[in-house]
Amino acid sequence: MVDLPSELSSLALDHIGIAVTDLDEAGEVYNLLGLEPKHPDELIKSQNVKVRTYQVGETMLELLEATSPDSPIAKYIAKKGVGIHHLALRVDDLEAEVARLLALGARFISTEPRAGRADSRIVFLHPKWSKGILIELVEHK
Ligand code: CO
Repeated sequence: MVDLPSELSSLALDHIGIAVTDLDEAGEVYNLLGLEPKHPDELIKSQNVKVRTYQVGETMLELLEATSPDSPIAKYIAKKGVGIHHLALRVDDLEAEVARLLALGARFISTEPRAGRADSRIVFLHPKWSKGILIELVEHK
């Protein structure tokens, strides 16, 4: 038995990250589905990606285009092709959640928070630990 937190209600699906080769080309699909970009495209320097967001109900789709060949998105596409890249779960306190999960044996790509979109702070769990799904934990200010 694992020691689960007494309250799970603060977790929410913040966004789904989708690896694309071209924001405009992939964005056309979402436009046809009736969605419009929610924010101006944003460059995330720490990841070498450009992001375009679409609000879908209470969550968001984030299209991710690599801005350099050493971007994690470029590497992902080279290995697995375009498609769903990660799920992001929103947490209230990133450090507390990282510490809680580490105590349960979780593995992270890095436990050091990095800058995400819109001044958020993010960490990624290691997909080998999370059974093939790259999970981002995101804390918004
Ligand atoms: Co993300």
